Amino acid sequence: MEDKLKQLWLQAQSEIASANPANYEILRTKYLGRKSELNHLLGQIADLPIEQKAVAGQLGNQIKQQLAERLNQLAERQPKAEVELFDPTIPGLHPPLGRLHPLTQTTNELVKLFRGLGFSVADGPEVETEENNFNLLNIPDNHPARDAWDTFWLKESVGSKFNPSADGQNSKFLLRTHTSPVQIRYMKEHRPPIRIIAPGRTFRYEAEDATHSSVFYQLEGLLIDRGITVAHLKAVIDTIVKDILGSEVKTRLRPSFFPFTEPSFEVDIWFKGHWLELMGCGMVHPTVLKNGDIDPTEFSGFAFGLGIDRITMLKHGIDDIRLFLSGNLDFLEEF
Ligand code: DAH
Repeated sequence: MEDKLKQLWLQAQSEIASANPANYEILRTKYLGRKSELNHLLGQIADLPIEQKAVAGQLGNQIKQQLAERLNQLAERQPKAEVELFDPTIPGLHPPLGRLHPLTQTTNELVKLFRGLGFSVADGPEVETEENNFNLLNIPDNHPARDAWDTFWLKESVGSKFNPSADGQNSKFLLRTHTSPVQIRYMKEHRPPIRIIAPGRTFRYEAEDATHSSVFYQLEGLLIDRGITVAHLKAVIDTIVKDILGSEVKTRLRPSFFPFTEPSFEVDIWFKGHWLELMGCGMVHPTVLKNGDIDPTEFSGFAFGLGIDRITMLKHGIDDIRLFLSGNLDFLEEF
């Protein structure tokens, strides 16, 4: 019995001395666990003759204590060993970075380009009055032209409480159907020369499909001064389109109709082998200038309104406008 115990001790202590601290748990189970050889031998000591029992018992307990001590020392080396394993040359983890929404990227790009041409940025509210969104833009109530803008109307009680218009009548509130009301707001507050753009969110009450969203983004432009003509309009549009979509893109003005411009045009672009309709524009209608307290016999100007969603779709070959507001990260992470 004594020999067995001594041999166990020799084997155990040499193994523990050369062991990796990471194996502490394994060794502790092997030498001190319930099913360990030592435990097994200690169990047999009870059956030994009396004179051997005392000696073997003492030796067994000594070995058990010693092993526990050596194993504790091994355990203490554990944390230190981990520190030594730290490798400062391993590259760090990359925290996931956020990014700007593709529509924000296009907007920022357009703003930068227009700023370069001397335009500044104006702003207006998303909840507008019927006056600014329609009437003062030469789109009177019951006029068939209104059918072009399917409208989200707000409850009249809200309008009557907060929005008495100039003539004392209550004007109704709506979600602006285009950014054009910013023209009215700006003209009322500023004298020419005026040179602004107004990017922002717009709303239409219409069924959604791949090319229609009830929430979308426009960028309005307005330039007013003495002697402004269609030639100025064409030059600005041309510059911007070529900058944003590529210098090979051709543009043309096609006669069209908007109540707030006369004459009015659609800008078409020759893009990847097709003529595509890009945006509306025209010379600001004299009535609209008057509504903005600007004398149409002294000043003239042009205006335009482009769809930020549409330009972004063309730029990146996106075929469904609904992706923009879908919150789909697979889509958004492509930009
Ligand atoms: N507001 C028009 C729309 O949303 C777009 C537009 C056309 C704006 C012609 C203009 C313009 O300023 O001159 O359909």
